[in-house]
Amino acid sequence: MASKKVIVVFGATGNQGGSVARAILEDKNICVRVATRDVTKPAAVALQDLGAEVVKCDLNSKEDVNGILKGAYGAFLVTNFWEGYSKEKEVKQVGNGTIDAVTSSLSSVYSVRTLMGRGSGGVFCPIGVPMTSVRLSAYFENFLTLWKPVKASDGDYYNLILPMKDIPLDGISVADIGPAVASIFRSPEEFLGKAVGLSAEALTVQQYADILSKTLGKVVKDSKITPEAYEKLGFPGAKEMADMMRFYHMRPDRDVQLTHKLNPKVKSFSQFVSENKGVFTDL
Ligand SMILES: NC(=O)c1ccc[n+]([C@@H]2O[C@H](COP(=O)([O-])OP(=O)(O)OC[C@H]3O[C@@H](n4cnc5c(N)ncnc54)[C@H](OP(=O)(O)O)[C@@H]3O)[C@@H](O)[C@H]2O)c1
Repeated sequence: MASKKVIVVFGATGNQGGSVARAILEDKNICVRVATRDVTKPAAVALQDLGAEVVKCDLNSKEDVNGILKGAYGAFLVTNFWEGYSKEKEVKQVGNGTIDAVTSSLSSVYSVRTLMGRGSGGVFCPIGVPMTSVRLSAYFENFLTLWKPVKASDGDYYNLILPMKDIPLDGISVADIGPAVASIFRSPEEFLGKAVGLSAEALTVQQYADILSKTLGKVVKDSKITPEAYEKLGFPGAKEMADMMRFYHMRPDRDVQLTHKLNPKVKSFSQFVSENKGVFTDL
């Protein structure tokens, strides 16, 4: 029997990579090899239980990266800007060994954060690595945590505090990213050398607020905060988040139609909020 194709998934113990690993694991003809710095952590053990091969790998170690990519058909690469708040560190992770290791791969799908337009394309494309750049939009899950509406101090309503002016913000549930990426892996010839921007839909902050109001039965409004005021809020990453919104003001191309083709079950924001109503019971 022919041996199975191996796809390596970086960041699989996290949101994005986890979604991708779980979606690819559904294809019993593929061996999913996941990278983690700690093979004993619950997320790693859960993936092993689902059939993944879990391998200790630190993206900062060239030896580790070369080892895990040996014999692989493809890889989904996630780097983590937020760990060091450093572009230089992140770019180093992209280039660290992955270049040597993947040049002989047949097909490779890479995703890096696209914040402020920096991506792995600049590292891989000039040397001819076959890759698809998967560009993401804001996770709907952010509305359950950092972007959860905040009680207004001057009335019986809640503020959605996002410095987007009136410009639509593309969004998607993390859970819907994996099936879309798995579709890309199934049709490499269609997507190699291209960038694919994933988005379930693009809404203004007031439209997000309206959906929250309708679904939760509370009044939620766009706070109309500016990026300049937002970055002064003082929490770790406030400046980076404001910069991310400035980047989104430029309307980076995300393809809602293609996303729905790649994952026909992709959820709208309205469906997402309905499914997660329980998280808002403290409003
Ligand atoms: N929030 C959003 O709306 C949004 C949207 C698009 C893109 N993004 C960006 O996408 C990226 C990934 O996001 P996420 O939500 O999936 O992050 P996450 O849940 O925090 O997961 C981070 C993953 O990176 C792995 N990792 C970190 N440093 C590593 C290293 N040195 N070597 C190997 N693995 C390492 C971690 O694995 P171990 O700890 O197991 O080693 C973990 O699996 C971030 O840069 C994020 O900013 C976020």
